[in-house]
Amino acid sequence: MATCSCCCGEDELTKQLDKIIDPYRGQPGGLIQVLTKAQELIGYLPKWALIRIAKALGLSLQDVYGVVTFYAFFSLIPRGRHKISVCAGTACYVKGTKMVTKTIREVLGIKPGQTTPDSRFTLEIVRCIGACGLAPAMIIDGKDVHGRLEPEQIPQILEQYA
Ligand code: FES
Repeated sequence: MATCSCCCGEDELTKQLDKIIDPYRGQPGGLIQVLTKAQELIGYLPKWALIRIAKALGLSLQDVYGVVTFYAFFSLIPRGRHKISVCAGTACYVKGTKMVTKTIREVLGIKPGQTTPDSRFTLEIVRCIGACGLAPAMIIDGKDVHGRLEPEQIPQILEQYA
């Protein structure tokens, strides 16, 4: 079933997906571009979209799943509006990745890889985000770095993201 978290109806979403696919019809080499744009459109890559993409590009569904599961960037499950990436690189791990993750789990009630029921947040654990001097750190939406985290700061930080 075609649904998304925005205002699109099922038919409209399918039409928009077809517009993304059209320039690549019969071209298996366009798979990554199509998947990237499809995920931007829908928010994740549901099975119905993968079937449609595989058929149009002349690939098997297995081929498409192989690519989607290879790249961490792609998601087969709905994602929240805000992505929390907790760093588990060495510096952060030593200084408190476990505490940060535990606190977020307690505040939001989700484990890494899960999305809150209100689709507000998705939690993931990542490698070094390049802010080792701020360990332990997390980055939200790929742009907002929050560092030197203490458990009591985390609820206030998350409140900033409606
Ligand atoms: S180890 Fe966490 S930012 Fe580098």
